[in-house]
Amino acid sequence: MAMLRSVFLAAAGSSRLERLVESAPVSRGVVRRFVAGSGAEDALRTSRALADDGLAVSLDHLGEDTETPEQAQAVRDEYLMLLSRLREAGLTPAAEVSVKLSALGQKFDPAVAVEHARAVCAAAAQAGTTVTLDAEDHTTTDSTLEILADLRKDHPTTGAVLQAYLRRTEADCRELAASGSRVRLCKGAYAEPESVAFQSALDVDKSYVRCLNVLMSGDGYPMVATHDPRLIAIAEDRARWFDRSSDEFEFQMLYGVRPDEQARLAADGHTVRVYVPYGRQWYGYLMRRLAERPANVAFFSRALTSR
Ligand code: FDA
Repeated sequence: MAMLRSVFLAAAGSSRLERLVESAPVSRGVVRRFVAGSGAEDALRTSRALADDGLAVSLDHLGEDTETPEQAQAVRDEYLMLLSRLREAGLTPAAEVSVKLSALGQKFDPAVAVEHARAVCAAAAQAGTTVTLDAEDHTTTDSTLEILADLRKDHPTTGAVLQAYLRRTEADCRELAASGSRVRLCKGAYAEPESVAFQSALDVDKSYVRCLNVLMSGDGYPMVATHDPRLIAIAEDRARWFDRSSDEFEFQMLYGVRPDEQARLAADGHTVRVYVPYGRQWYGYLMRRLAERPANVAFFSRALTSR
């Protein structure tokens, strides 16, 4: 499993393989399970359907590692357009957006990324909703948390994502578990070296529980992003222990993953938010999903061979 994970995570960074997979006619069916569609129209339709089922959403316009100022500006404009359409459609505040700073230019000019992120946060505020900054590989963590602190001066509800596989994350949770902060806790989806990240599933899970304890006992708003039944049960237990009601924390899961569990938690009275990616640049996202689970790989190979 660890071997498969590293193969898919290495594939996530290969542009040659990206061209090959994207041009395969079968890919579309596979992508459809995890991605809402290619345009804002698809994102809105999916958000409406999930809202009708009592689920909140966080929309992610797919794309990362933007290389030019023009691309970064186009990503910003997509989010501005999406937010105004969500507002017009009456889908806010149940729908918020998730943003990757690398898509806004973080890697070639952090100042450009900050400026664009600020514009997205302002548009979200105008639409009556929030922004969460996705976490990417560990080389970006310091920069992302600095940008978050800067954005929160004007937009205090801007959410952070912390990855339990990073050794630093328990300390980051302590920093961020303060009143008004929103923190999405996930396991982490990138290939990271042992120097910065726990490598075994058990160590990652143990770190997740330590981080969960910090967030649930703190004053912020924890967003428990996992499909792991054991961690979900522990989160429910901690929420009871720390007397958190359903509007004082939420569960989050990815679109297409464990929809029955999403429905069960919502029916139990929990706030459940589905992370819904849309757009044409689905390759890196899909490879990370395949890295997570052998069953996803089996699903992908069946689609490739059953034509
Ligand atoms: P994991 O993949 O270890 O699975 C644990 C268990 O969950 C499995 O053993 C199984 O029981 C169950 N399970 C998982 N998938 C299933 C399926 N398809 N069907 C049935 N059971 C299944 N990462 C990142 O680095 N930066 C980010 O910004 C984000 N953002 C983000 C947002 C949201 C809302 C979520 C849910 C996740 C992320 N992630 C992320 C991804 C995250 O880091 C992680 O890679 C995945 O969530 C997978 O980890 P799990 O916690 O689900 O456990």
